[in-house]
Amino acid sequence: MPKTIIVTGGAGFIGSNFVFHMLDKYPDYRIVCLDKLTYAGNLSTLESVLNKPNFRFVKADICDREAVFALFEEERPDVVVNFAAESHVDRSIEDPGIFLKTNILGTQTLMDASRKFGVERYHQVSTDEVYGDLPLDRPDLFFTEETPIHTSSPYSSSKAGADLLVLAYYRTFGLPVTISRCSNNYGPYHFPEKLIPLMIANALADKPLPVYGKGENVRDWLYVEDHCKAIDAILHKGRVGEVYNVGGHNEMANIDIVKIICRELGKPESLITFVTDRKGHDLRYAIDPTKIRDELGWQPETKFADGVKKTIRWYLDNEAWWKAIIAGEYRDYYEKMYGDR
Ligand code: NAD
Ligand code: TYD
Repeated sequence: MPKTIIVTGGAGFIGSNFVFHMLDKYPDYRIVCLDKLTYAGNLSTLESVLNKPNFRFVKADICDREAVFALFEEERPDVVVNFAAESHVDRSIEDPGIFLKTNILGTQTLMDASRKFGVERYHQVSTDEVYGDLPLDRPDLFFTEETPIHTSSPYSSSKAGADLLVLAYYRTFGLPVTISRCSNNYGPYHFPEKLIPLMIANALADKPLPVYGKGENVRDWLYVEDHCKAIDAILHKGRVGEVYNVGGHNEMANIDIVKIICRELGKPESLITFVTDRKGHDLRYAIDPTKIRDELGWQPETKFADGVKKTIRWYLDNEAWWKAIIAGEYRDYYEKMYGDR
C-alpha cells in the first residue's frame, strides 16, 4: 500500500541519503521532508528530487507546534522518521541549550502530532552514543540493546533524553514507536565539521589535520547507505516498542582513519597535527548488531575499504557542494574551534 512518510532533517547528511533511498526503492510512496535548514541543512543537497511529484520539501522547525500540526493535518502521514537534530558533539560542548530544545522538545512535538493524527509508526533515529563509551583494552565488550544508558556529552544526553521519552510515549500512550541506535556514519553529503569530511577537505587544501588527543579513540564506522537500509528494514519488518542497534563491526582508531585518507589522497602524514583533546571524549564505541541481523536479516553491505574510497571520490567530484559550505559561516566555526587549539 502506498504510504506518506514525513522525514524530518532530510536536508542533512543521513536524512538526505534516506530520502534518496526511499524515493528510489518505493516510487509509489510520498516523501515529505520537514527541515529547518539550520547550518547543517542544505537545500541544494535535495536538488535532484525537488521536482519529483511524490516529493515535497517544507521548511519548518520541529519545535514549532503550529507548523508541525498543520503539516500533519495536511499530509496525514502514515509514518514519521525523525532525523532532525543538532548532531555535533563539539558544538554541544560549546552550547548545550539548542541540543536540549531540538533533540528533546522537538521529538516531543513530533510525537504529540503523531498521536493526534494516528500515525502507524513513529521512528526515532538515535545513536550508539547513548550507551556512553567502552574501554580501549576490552575489545570483547560491545553495546547491546540491553546496555544501560550512560551518556558523556550534552549531545548524547539529549539523544538519550529523547529515546526515553519515545519509550514513554509507547508505554503510556501506546504510540507505535521504534528506535534505531546507529554507530558513526560516513559517505556523501557528510557535513565537513565531522572527522572524515573535515580531514578530506583539509588534506585537499594541504592544511593541518587536527587529531584530538593521541588519535586512539575508536569509532565503529558504517557506510550511510547501510544505515538507510537498516531503517527501511525496521519500518517494514521491525517490532513496535523495540530498539535496534545498527553497526558494522568496523572499529577503527581515529589516527588510522586519518592515515588512510592521507594515503588515498597522496598527501603526507606530516599534515597530521595532534591537538588538545575533546572534553569528556568517549574512548570507544562498538555495536553488537545481532538483534537486527537475526530478527530483520539486515547486514552491512559496504566494507570500509570500499566505502572510504567511494566517499573520497564523492568529495573530489562534488567540490562545489562542500566548498560553498566551508567558505561561509563555517570559517568562523573553524577558527573558534581550532584557531588556538
Ligand atoms: P546533520 O547535522 O547532518 O543533519 C541534521 C538535519 O536536521 C539538518 O538538515 C538540519 O537542518 C535539521 N534540523 C536541525 N534542527 C532542526 C529543527 N529544529 N527542525 C527541523 N530540522 C532541523 O545530522 P546527521 O549526521 O544527518 O544525523 C541525523 C540523525 O542521525 C540525528 O538525529 C543524529 O543524532 C543521528 N545519528 C547520526 C550519526 C552520524 O554518524 N552522523 C550516527 C547515529 C545517529
Ligand atoms: P565526529 O566525527 O565528531 O563524531 P563523534 O564525536 O560523534 O564520534 O568525531 C569522530 C572522532 O574523531 C571522535 O573521536 C573525535 C575525533 N575528531 C578528531 O580527532 N578531530 C576532529 O577535527 C574531529 C571533528 C573529530
